[in-house]
Amino acid sequence: MKEFDKNFSTYDDNAIVQKEVAKKLTELIKHHFSIDNYSKVMELGCGTGIFTRHILNNIKIEKLVLNDYFNTEKYLEGLKYEKFVKGDMSQSLKENYDLIISSSSFQWIEDLENLIKNISGKTNNLAFSIYITGNLKEIQEHFDITLNYKTRKEIVLLLKKYFSEIESYEEERIIKFKQPMDALRHLKKTGVGINSNSSVQKIRTFSEKNLSYSVGYFLCSK
Ligand SMILES: C[S@@+](CC[C@H](N)C(=O)[O-])C[C@H]1O[C@@H](n2cnc3c(N)ncnc32)[C@H](O)[C@@H]1O
Repeated sequence: MKEFDKNFSTYDDNAIVQKEVAKKLTELIKHHFSIDNYSKVMELGCGTGIFTRHILNNIKIEKLVLNDYFNTEKYLEGLKYEKFVKGDMSQSLKENYDLIISSSSFQWIEDLENLIKNISGKTNNLAFSIYITGNLKEIQEHFDITLNYKTRKEIVLLLKKYFSEIESYEEERIIKFKQPMDALRHLKKTGVGINSNSSVQKIRTFSEKNLSYSVGYFLCSK
């Protein structure tokens, strides 16, 4: 996770999948919730504001509150938001919102159920994208490292405890690189570093030119 802090400056140019995911999630939100004008929305894990920009261009919001674990405000210049809450997202939910949103961030949360429970105490509407089981399988297979991804079904079961209506989708997006090393460099620049415990030998023998991203989208209401 600390890799993000070092790589925010290269994130936007390399976050190819995250940009597509942010765009798709915005479209889903626009068509799913029948609210024309949101008075208060919170975005969790906003990073450099890729998703924030899509949301502000497509949805009417009077007050938008942004959160990230790191202070990313210098990347958010020119965006219309009410305030920035720095810190762990699970601890940052203090007020009530019409809608809580997040793109490409929840896979970093160790206790997803606790987060969903906290969110459900503050809103009737939640929409997020998250990377799910199978994500970056090329990295898992070679380096034996992975986040604790969940399947779409597991996430739906968890959400059902706190929200009555859940719409969900999943998809796989593959990025092709010229060289395996380009794939590893790409990951590093988006904050997913192969940790220093990986031996030089392991890095040299990585032979995959494709990276597969498995994404889940969830739209929930009470
Ligand atoms: C892959 S980036 C996604 C950023 C942005 N939402 C986007 O769509 O490009 C994940 C973001 O989640 C943030 N993050 C990870 N764990 C967090 C936590 N516990 N609380 C708040 N933010 C967190 C990271 O700092 C990073 O900015």
